[in-house]
Amino acid sequence: MLIIHKISELKSQLLRERNLGHTIGLVPTMGALHDGHASLVKRSVNENDITVVSIFLNPTQFNDKKDLERYPRTLEADCKLLEKCGAQIAFAPSVEEIYPEPDTRMFSYPPTDSVMEGAMRPGHFNGVCQIVSKLFEYTNPDRAYFGEKDYQQIAVIKRMADDLGFKMDIISCPVIREKSGLAMSSRNTLLTDKERAIAANIYKVLKESTTLGLDVKQTHDFVVEQINSVDGLEVQYFSIVDGETLIDIPSWQSADSIVGCITVFCGSKPIRLIDHIRYK
Ligand code: PAF
Repeated sequence: MLIIHKISELKSQLLRERNLGHTIGLVPTMGALHDGHASLVKRSVNENDITVVSIFLNPTQFNDKKDLERYPRTLEADCKLLEKCGAQIAFAPSVEEIYPEPDTRMFSYPPTDSVMEGAMRPGHFNGVCQIVSKLFEYTNPDRAYFGEKDYQQIAVIKRMADDLGFKMDIISCPVIREKSGLAMSSRNTLLTDKERAIAANIYKVLKESTTLGLDVKQTHDFVVEQINSVDGLEVQYFSIVDGETLIDIPSWQSADSIVGCITVFCGSKPIRLIDHIRYK
């Protein structure tokens, strides 16, 4: 596997691949890779001749400096995992390489980027669009792979790709969960064993809420009350939304696709965990 740090080198390597008629899959990541990332990489390896995995902890999408500082950095282990998954290129640039000048571009795709995570983390999706648009431009992939755990992120990226005229397929891949049901996330490594066990209640409650035959408001209140009743968990928001527009829905008849999106603080640090459940 090639490990590339420079944009110019990445572009020339990919030009050579294109000239050979090879297809390119891109898996954007911020490193601290886990089995969830591995599933995206394996899928890309199956579907493309060349898989590029970017490893870049993008500062512009962190509105909370502390969150950025404590984000795990594990480049060596990441490269080993990528090699095992069959990726051909790891692209691991420095911050200066990506942002020699501050990126002043503004992206705005309301309501997709202004609700839920957009409301709680001002500027977050703008930073995501800045880096993902750059990665799309450097690699011009046939397919780009994102984990469905970040449900809203995929919706925003699809709008950005549409807006900027990128033609690649954006492929959303299912959430990979630990045995306990906890959605895999790089942030899970920041949890203690006890917190990890507590965090498993998030998915347990979400799943239970699909079985109770409650209306939308009752379902919302059930999830929030049950999760808040667990010592060490605190719901930041739980929104039951149209799976396409991400707008809150008043009843199960309001949309063909309905998803409940949740963010929960776990433990004393606290670590912010996100997850979602499909109701329809
Ligand atoms: O989902 C992530 O890890 C990041 O938001 C992404 C898409 C790699 C952009 O930095």
